[in-house]
Amino acid sequence: MSSPSQTWKDQLSTQMPEALAREIDVFETQITLRKQGKIEEKLFAETRLRRGVYGQRYDNGQRHDGEKSQELNFPCGALTKGPITVWDAPGMMRIKIPYGKLSARQLEVLAELAEEYSDQILHVTTRQDIQLHFVHIEDTPDLMRRLAAVGITTREACGNSVRNVTACPYAGVCNTQSFDVTPYANALTYFLLGHDDCQDFGRKFKIAFSGCEGESCGLANFHDLGAVATTRTENGTTLRGFRLFVGGGLGSVPQNAQLFDAFLPESELLPTAQAICRVFARLGEKQNRAKARLKFLVKKLGLEEFKRLVLEERDKLRPDERWTAFLSDLHVTDEAPLRPGSPVPSGADASFSAWQRTNVRPQAQEGYGAVTITLPLGDFTSDQARALADLMRKYTGDSLRCTADQNLVMRWVPNGDLPALRADLQAIGLGTGGAGTITDICSCPGTDTCKLGISSSRSLSSELSRQLKEMGDELPEAARGLHIKASGCFNSCGQHHVADLGFLGVSRNVGGRRVPHFQLVVGGQWENNGGSYGMAIGAIPSKRVPDAVKRIVGKFVNERQGEETFHTYINRVGKKEIRAIVDELQVIPPFEVDPSFYSDWGDPRVYTIGDMGVGECAGEIVPFVEMGLAGAEREVFEAQELLEKNDVAGAAKRAYGAMLQAARALTKDRNQNLGDDPAEIVAEFKTHFFDTKLFFDQFAGPKFANFLFKTHDEGGKAESKEAAHQLVDEAQLFVDAAHQCYARLGSSLSTPVQA
Ligand code: HEM
Ligand code: SF4
Repeated sequence: MSSPSQTWKDQLSTQMPEALAREIDVFETQITLRKQGKIEEKLFAETRLRRGVYGQRYDNGQRHDGEKSQELNFPCGALTKGPITVWDAPGMMRIKIPYGKLSARQLEVLAELAEEYSDQILHVTTRQDIQLHFVHIEDTPDLMRRLAAVGITTREACGNSVRNVTACPYAGVCNTQSFDVTPYANALTYFLLGHDDCQDFGRKFKIAFSGCEGESCGLANFHDLGAVATTRTENGTTLRGFRLFVGGGLGSVPQNAQLFDAFLPESELLPTAQAICRVFARLGEKQNRAKARLKFLVKKLGLEEFKRLVLEERDKLRPDERWTAFLSDLHVTDEAPLRPGSPVPSGADASFSAWQRTNVRPQAQEGYGAVTITLPLGDFTSDQARALADLMRKYTGDSLRCTADQNLVMRWVPNGDLPALRADLQAIGLGTGGAGTITDICSCPGTDTCKLGISSSRSLSSELSRQLKEMGDELPEAARGLHIKASGCFNSCGQHHVADLGFLGVSRNVGGRRVPHFQLVVGGQWENNGGSYGMAIGAIPSKRVPDAVKRIVGKFVNERQGEETFHTYINRVGKKEIRAIVDELQVIPPFEVDPSFYSDWGDPRVYTIGDMGVGECAGEIVPFVEMGLAGAEREVFEAQELLEKNDVAGAAKRAYGAMLQAARALTKDRNQNLGDDPAEIVAEFKTHFFDTKLFFDQFAGPKFANFLFKTHDEGGKAESKEAAHQLVDEAQLFVDAAHQCYARLGSSLSTPVQA
């Protein structure tokens, strides 16, 4: 689109909702004030985050070349968008798409914005948002106005707020749903958006809806608030309600949500959510970000006490007509198909049939299919978006949804039109099959654009997908349905915990050099709303991950019993066997022999974590430390095995032992006389690594060190299997943090310092 003669503000003044238009004007003023130095930088950072204007890698004005940091020159001088965020450095714009639903017109506007303000790429995220990268902050007010004119807000897309409300992309057309959750997700979205009771959180708050228990699309199990549709019959009348879950979450300490109410009547959904938000705002942690999600509050209070407080709060709420007004028209979000349903034409070729098998899901409504458009790494171009909007109009009316596995779903396609739609999709490069199969890999942004990224999750995913596709017919049938997900770090934005094969980026020090690795997590469940999480096997060098995947998949295919799922298989054979087949992949040749291990996928530079802002040192080999850390890793693994055998006490003790061993490995370097007494190790570790903050994680601060202190205080005991599971996870994180600490300190570790 050519640039308008009027400003966007003038041109769109009658098309934007008034309140939203005003909010955007305010934000534009805040930008001006910041440029004049009249808004303090931290305050400005939170302000922009609450409008979805996010930081991006290298926005501190530095890029590490593997040896040293290089300055990136921007014209803005010392002006920042917040601490260590250069004003002119491009950032990311997160655009909230409630329950992933997009109209054709909205898609066209997003295409224009991607073209005019970004890099022509629209990125679908694991929470059904759309992200544009490389956006300049001064373009964001107009970008927001153009979105506002088509009913989209970026308000509370980031920051400590209620994030995008997600829901299954098949809601309303699905065969397994209790009922269509769309109108409920819609009502809750706009009820909580900007609500007074949601402005004082210590951390973000995520909500997900699902139409049924068994499928994966809603992922209600790992959200702060998860609502699963259910019905109950009373006196011959079918009543609608939700199984309401609270306190789930992934991240470094994944937590399954707990059942808050087995049947929350539909009329209670909004007030109960409001009461939960109030309790979270009032009692949730505010200082320590690492403990500030709802899951920690629910844990701290216990479910019963949390519930009591919520119900007490619910009774105190001032009645609000919005709680139930939406129930009088639940069809407001319905979609009207363009044409009557029709049968699938016979005589389709093999290529069409293969695509249909993976990418078309029969709708509950006879004669229609919901078509998945497979996007590589969640990306599509502005040209493709525009063409897709045309195809929506041609075939379906207005029905497109973003999915949590980073694809798009086009609903209400008459089956008779499927071959023609497939051909049209192929013509715009979107006709690839394999949706939901092993080649359709999910990935967080990782080191490409995320400041916290440790390894390149996107490039790994792309390489894995390429190699698996290359296997073609050689890829066994049993392997095709497996799910792979990758995150660039422990924050789990790629949702690796709920994949058959999950990966999270970690860095390891080998012979004084940094090597990109991925921690392998196996056997997580994508079904049952992300029902259970996988367990860590060990860190694999990035370049060997494809090899590891092929070995594990091959073993599964050979040993699978009947229709056994991968999840069941892993539980049957145990992790030890899996570890055994990838063990040798963990040994890395020296840099001089094969330097390829020392750079990451898709990045020719010598691998560095310097871009995270963590100082690099030319570390020298400190064999004791490396041996100690390897020993600690082994102990974590053994703890996991004991846990599998339901040996709760043994697992807890071993996890405690692993932490002590890692702490001792580091601390021995500072105190050569250090003995084996746990109290002494902990005290010395505290003096040399905690009080000095040397062990502090750049982003999680003292979090991981505190795991050791807590476990030590409790004597390495766990009361239940769940507690032991958490202890083992914490031990893994502590050992990872010890690796990071060692990597950061490098050669200075062998030079005792006075604390
Ligand atoms: C831009 C860089 C990003 C940063 C700095 C970031 C940061 C984080 C952090 C700190 C967590 C841990 C949450 C916690 O336990 O408190 C997290 C989790 C998560 N993030 Fe991100 N994230 C980024 C990008 C993304 C993107 C692009 C998505 C997709 C919309 C995403 C989706 C998720 C999901 C699904 C989780 C796990 C679920 C949960 O427990 O919240 N993140 N992220
Ligand atoms: S998992 Fe880590 S690397 Fe990936 S987007 Fe989240 S914070 Fe960034």
